[in-house]
Amino acid sequence: VEKTTAVADEAVSNIRTVRAFAMEDQEQELFVAETELAMLLNENLGFGIGWFQAGTNIFLNGMVLITLYMGGYLLSTDKLSPGQLMAYLMASQTIQRSLGQISLLFGSVIRGLASGSRVFEYMNLQPTMPLRGGKTISEFDLKGDIEFTNVTFSYPTRRQQCILKDFNLKVPAGKTLAIVGASGNGKSTVVALIERFYDVNCGEITLDGHDIKTLDPSWLRQRALGLISQEPILFGTSVMENIRYGRPESTDEEVKEAAKLANAHDFICSFPRGYDTLVGERGTTLSGGQKQRIAIARALLKNPAVLLLDEATSALDTESEKIVQNALDKARKGRTVIVIAHRLSTIQNADIIVVLHKGKIVEMGTHEELTKMHGYYWTLTYQQQEVPAG
Ligand SMILES: Nc1ncnc2c1ncn2[C@@H]1O[C@H](COP(=O)(O)OP(=O)(O)O)[C@@H](O)[C@H]1O
Ligand SMILES: [Mg+2]
Repeated sequence: VEKTTAVADEAVSNIRTVRAFAMEDQEQELFVAETELAMLLNENLGFGIGWFQAGTNIFLNGMVLITLYMGGYLLSTDKLSPGQLMAYLMASQTIQRSLGQISLLFGSVIRGLASGSRVFEYMNLQPTMPLRGGKTISEFDLKGDIEFTNVTFSYPTRRQQCILKDFNLKVPAGKTLAIVGASGNGKSTVVALIERFYDVNCGEITLDGHDIKTLDPSWLRQRALGLISQEPILFGTSVMENIRYGRPESTDEEVKEAAKLANAHDFICSFPRGYDTLVGERGTTLSGGQKQRIAIARALLKNPAVLLLDEATSALDTESEKIVQNALDKARKGRTVIVIAHRLSTIQNADIIVVLHKGKIVEMGTHEELTKMHGYYWTLTYQQQEVPAG
């Protein structure tokens, strides 16, 4: 049943994709197959319980028969009074009824144990990474130097595939570093490691010289780093609350200040209900660019020393990309920025550009230097000029 629901849920929530590829029939087949499997399992369980109940019933009724037979014999030989026999019969019937109940309960217990074991499996999982605990750096000392030293990393689910191997990278505080490269080369992984969503296998990543493993993960994500990714996630509350999510204790004024910095204030004010406008499924539909600017405002509200942008503009059309890019250029001031970009035109003015290929840095330098090299970067730019951006 669990797997059946999963298939149905996936198909329904991705209905557009299913439609777009005309896969309704295949999805239906998948669903039927899973349902049939669930039916078979349920049938087996039913049979098991049925046999158990039949067995206990035969046994119990047999006991009544034997009692009557034996009792009759004892009565006829005057070893037992009728009253005693009745009392005995009553007693054995009470026992029979209770045993019958137990056999019914038995089925429920089995089902309960099966469901319960799944719950406890999750409850007993030990988090591999603590949520809290560790050093913090005071706001005034925090500069935002990021350095990777001999980092080797593979995802826990795929240990044999090394994503980064002896990876070294230095991002001086206040500089903008761009990471480019075809997809699947480990760009997002670099960002995930700075956010400490995963721990490195070997080597270390430092923030201002402190290994991030020694820093408080909550502090790191809440105060030091701001992450903006391709798909902004907004919650079904007001615009105000969605931005305030970045730093829950901030005032309305601070929220508006962040929105202005993110080029979001004007369009928010143009809504009839302004900052109280509801977003999400039952609220106003925002365009991709508007959502992204709200997400930027949310990240800026933290005033993070390090801003991580993972393809923040690649889901947008050229028009909104310009507005969002403009907001991001403003946001870069006074911070360390690591930007991953799909469109190379957006990162030409970065201080350092690194080209990542199969988890290794193959080229590094400014736009001019890399263009002169006629290597990977040059090839990537060339490809994007051939095929119009998008
Ligand atoms: N959560 C994950 N578990 C296992 N492998 C992953 C995970 N995320 C990404 N990968 C693998 O890591 C490699 C690099 O992925 P990624 O860093 O997302 O590349 P990019 O951002 O450059 O497109 C890919 O081969 C991808 O299949
Ligand atoms: Mg990526």
